[in-house]
Amino acid sequence: MARDDSLLPSHIPDWASGAVYQIVVPSYMDSNGDGWGDLPGLISRLDYLQWLGVSALWLSPIYPSPLLDMGYDVADYTDVNPRFGTLADIDRLLEEAHRRDIHILLDFVPNHTSHEHPWFKESKACRDNPRRDWYLWRDPAPDGGPPNNWTNQFEQSDWTLDEATGQYYMHSFMPEQPDLNWWNPEVRATMFDVLRFWLKRGVDGFRIDAMVHLYKDPLLRDNPPAEDSSPEKWPAWNMLPAFSQDVGGLQEIVRELCGVVSEYPERIFIGENHLPPERLPLYYCSGLTHPSNSQLLDLEWDAIHVRRMIDRYEGFLTADQWPNWILGSHDNQRVAGHLGLERARVAAMMQLTLRGTPIMYYGEEIGMHNADIQPDLERDQLALRMPGRGRGRDFQRTPMQWSGEANAGFTHGKPWLPVADDFEHTNVEQQRDDPRRILNLYRRLLALRKEHDALRIGRYIPDVLDKRALVYVRQADAERVLVVLNFTEKPIEITPRAGGGRLLISSYLDREGDYVGAKLSLRANEGVAIELD
Ligand code: GLC
Repeated sequence: MARDDSLLPSHIPDWASGAVYQIVVPSYMDSNGDGWGDLPGLISRLDYLQWLGVSALWLSPIYPSPLLDMGYDVADYTDVNPRFGTLADIDRLLEEAHRRDIHILLDFVPNHTSHEHPWFKESKACRDNPRRDWYLWRDPAPDGGPPNNWTNQFEQSDWTLDEATGQYYMHSFMPEQPDLNWWNPEVRATMFDVLRFWLKRGVDGFRIDAMVHLYKDPLLRDNPPAEDSSPEKWPAWNMLPAFSQDVGGLQEIVRELCGVVSEYPERIFIGENHLPPERLPLYYCSGLTHPSNSQLLDLEWDAIHVRRMIDRYEGFLTADQWPNWILGSHDNQRVAGHLGLERARVAAMMQLTLRGTPIMYYGEEIGMHNADIQPDLERDQLALRMPGRGRGRDFQRTPMQWSGEANAGFTHGKPWLPVADDFEHTNVEQQRDDPRRILNLYRRLLALRKEHDALRIGRYIPDVLDKRALVYVRQADAERVLVVLNFTEKPIEITPRAGGGRLLISSYLDREGDYVGAKLSLRANEGVAIELD
């Protein structure tokens, strides 16, 4: 299909306007019965992903790792964890995925390694080890305590004392995840070569983990207290990360990363951040980078609030900055768990009809809920190290529900995390042939994006402001599609400015093709897309 470059910036590959589907590899499909998902398992599900209609997969970290943080603790950047497979499996995945027009993004974890990485072992060995400066070592403060007041989500200092060498090292996350020193040119060059290693193999890009942490205040100044700090809150939330995240020099690092990735054509990367929308434009460069937009995570279901959020974000982006939308992730609640299944359908319709790349989370397409995990089966260190604080992230990482068979068809062995107990009625096999279930809603929406440039790359034009419904038009050349999403539990009547036309889809999946006038009647929690006259 001919492409209007004024709509999708010319430096963004076409495939990146399609949906990215995030996969937690340990939970997707187990091929060998050890209870852990793996690459051969994932390859066996590519036909499903093609049928669903996604454009790219973002894989959770697949590298050798003690897996203390689900792989976000890397012990070797250029190999594959034997639990997940081999480098040959990656090559086969790339080949099989590309054959199906599916692109592969790896999770790149540049801010920190595992404490088991040989670099850290060397760095820790003695003060004059050549790799000492690969990590952030500092002398204790005059009182013997940590060098500054930075704290992390584990409710502890970002600094751990190494008794043997008498210095503290820095970690933005767990002590087992020491931060690399990105001021060191050797570190930068080595990490850029890691990117090239995978790009050469044929991966289509990366998701950059914890991007905003990569550059810190060179003086490592104390963070200021947050305005609304209180003793009930975690220490980490009681201070503004002014000197530890999103600091000046970060843009330069992002530009350098961009330079490396652009050595290879048609690649992209998505930088993880949880910044307000006005900060996001700073982290775009030449269309390759997509600073993740986390505003829809743990969403507040209020049409005016969502509308303002979308309009603000759209307003901050320049013509060559392409948006993206995320509803759920391995760090956040599942959408259907948080909003309920009816609203999750409307949310899906919003995510897949807004302007920008939708970044879906595995299992969203079948409405997977937040699972109940018995405390003795929990794996996430946020739960294990802070029991009773309710911060664990296991409930959104449970195995994909493929069928009503034992362990939801995910494994023949004992799953590393229990399967959610709703798998008998929430699974792919059962929903696939049922034309009204959420799986077919996702599939139909993904197909519509491909069929209609207005939905795939068209302009976003807000329509009436209404507290009951979100209303907008997408337009590419003469094609205009009106989207109306009823955010209420009641039927509503609404008259968008844009007029009427032919119904492309209802989130109920039961009235495609009907002609509707300017005055629209919507059922409770119904979303519709209308091809305007
Ligand atoms: C990112 C990941 C999260 C991980 C953390 C440390 O925020 O999304 O899962 O725990 O980085 O790597």
